[in-house]
Amino acid sequence: MTDYSQIPDLASSVYVAPLRKPAGLADDWLEPAQRRYTVAEHRIWDELYARQIELMPGHACREFMLGLERLDLGRGGVPDFDAISEELRSLTGWSVVPVPMLIPDHVFYYHLANRRFPAGNFIRTREQFDYIQEPDVFHDVYGHVPLLTDPVYASYMEAYGRAGWKALKYNRLKALSALYWYTVEFGLILEDDALRIYGAGILSGPTETVYSLEAESPNRIHLSVDRVMRTDYTISDLQATYFVIESFRELFHLTEQRGFEPIYESLAPGFQYAKTAALDTDHIYHRGTQEYELRGGRGSGARPV
Ligand code: CO
Repeated sequence: MTDYSQIPDLASSVYVAPLRKPAGLADDWLEPAQRRYTVAEHRIWDELYARQIELMPGHACREFMLGLERLDLGRGGVPDFDAISEELRSLTGWSVVPVPMLIPDHVFYYHLANRRFPAGNFIRTREQFDYIQEPDVFHDVYGHVPLLTDPVYASYMEAYGRAGWKALKYNRLKALSALYWYTVEFGLILEDDALRIYGAGILSGPTETVYSLEAESPNRIHLSVDRVMRTDYTISDLQATYFVIESFRELFHLTEQRGFEPIYESLAPGFQYAKTAALDTDHIYHRGTQEYELRGGRGSGARPV
């Protein structure tokens, strides 16, 4: 495989000046919506954390483990956004912005392009312990934020935010969303020849943490940016296919080098490949039996976490 060690160390690259605020973007969207949590809500965080941290060894990638440690997310209760942001800023120039709900795509991209990660400020109830409809503070902070301590991953996320503006221009948001889905949310990474998880959608819940690495049903295929942006995905259930990278350098390199304009120009509006597809051109680590899909998954409703 390609040797990506020759790429200059991104950790030393300076943080670029923020993009100008686009016309028509209301300041309301950019104001951090900090809120206080009840004792019961802090306890829900603690229980989710305790359940998930148990599963991390042998499943989560090493950069994620390092990030959890650096940010001390297990210190007790829902973490303080200011404290996390202060630590993150010193490491990679990122910060975390609490938001009350899912935000519009262009606001999301604007934040990412400026190294701000929007995180839901609400936490699931006990009744939603295993199935949630919208990403809450546990998914966003536990799942996404640890990797923002990694300089290369941090640069990828900024580049993704910038790419978002181009996708809006070309009307290809669906394709760019597929890339986010199969990397940031559900990505796997090779670590000393073993597969590990870096996707936040997997790492914030126990079911898929085990399923993504150990089940026979899903495909595990090496990431190709063009291929992924043409592939349909599952929103409310376990994935039929996971895409694998060999390092965050590779991920950054593949997306930066490829550029998005040529892809957007060549894409059809819909998805070309089914989520269960394994192509002749794929580098396949595991060809899934797709038995889970054939059984119809878990039916409709929120996704298992
Ligand atoms: Co997410």
